[in-house]
Amino acid sequence: MIKVLLSGCNGRMGQTITRLSVNNNELKIVAGFDINDSIKNDYPVFTNIEDCNIEADVIIDFSNPNAFESIIKYAVSRKVPLVLATTGLAPSQRALLNKASEQIPVFFAANMSYGVNLLIDLVKRASKALEGSFDIEIIEKHHNQKLDAPSGTALEIANAINSVLDQKQEYIYDRHSRREKRSKNEIGIHAVRGGTIVGEHTVIFAGNDEIIEIKHTAMSREIFASGALRAAKFLYDKKPGLYNMTDLIESNTI
Ligand SMILES: NC(=O)c1ccc[n+]([C@@H]2O[C@H](COP(=O)([O-])OP(=O)(O)OC[C@H]3O[C@@H](n4cnc5c(N)ncnc54)[C@H](O)[C@@H]3O)[C@@H](O)[C@H]2O)c1
Repeated sequence: MIKVLLSGCNGRMGQTITRLSVNNNELKIVAGFDINDSIKNDYPVFTNIEDCNIEADVIIDFSNPNAFESIIKYAVSRKVPLVLATTGLAPSQRALLNKASEQIPVFFAANMSYGVNLLIDLVKRASKALEGSFDIEIIEKHHNQKLDAPSGTALEIANAINSVLDQKQEYIYDRHSRREKRSKNEIGIHAVRGGTIVGEHTVIFAGNDEIIEIKHTAMSREIFASGALRAAKFLYDKKPGLYNMTDLIESNTI
């Protein structure tokens, strides 16, 4: 049985993972970490990760960038592999994550769903095929409790597009402060927030007299939760390094 320390255990994603892992006979949550300890779980919850004296084989984190430094410190000092799903990390935190991966296995994905990662693959192929003749815009929609904008996934999609284009594109976030025509060398990125939308990402390729749209809609948080559990199973016995969804998909464990 793989022992999991669940960070952000009392949030929306933490509770979805808690529910899903009840019937999982390969992984078991042995402890939780959350600044909010008002929810009763079947495992002990620590409000300070340093106080957690329960041994774990892997950490799954869906919390907040404010928790990042303490989680990294804990994972590296105790040599516990880390599945990091929290989005909105600062560039300095991403650099720290890369550095930590020299010492422990780290899995990072701004989106743990298989479908979104397939969308990224399709979008890369479309971007290459349409380069120079179609304008690319990304629209993402999320619930009204989401803190970061645009979503980590929208940025990951934009980075994936740039990775295959010869002419790198500039990211333009919304357009309210600009009174000028769109240039050919940009990707527009737009965030919508409202209600309980779990997550929607649409990539628009707009050409002359034709439009192609590639869209993914998440209907429940379970797709991210089950992806994170698979990532934990994949990661816990790996060598130090930085792993992502492509590694997981190629390992055929999904
Ligand atoms: N990678 C993915 O597939 C994916 C999918 C969904 C959400 N997310 C990301 O996961 C994170 C959590 O999402 P959520 O919807 O569950 O949010 P949430 O606000 O419901 O839950 C976050 C939890 O973290 C706790 N927390 C906040 N600050 C903390 C700190 N400093 N120390 C310890 N605990 C702290 C909160 O008390 C809360 O219980 C967000 O960054 C979100 O964007 C990633």
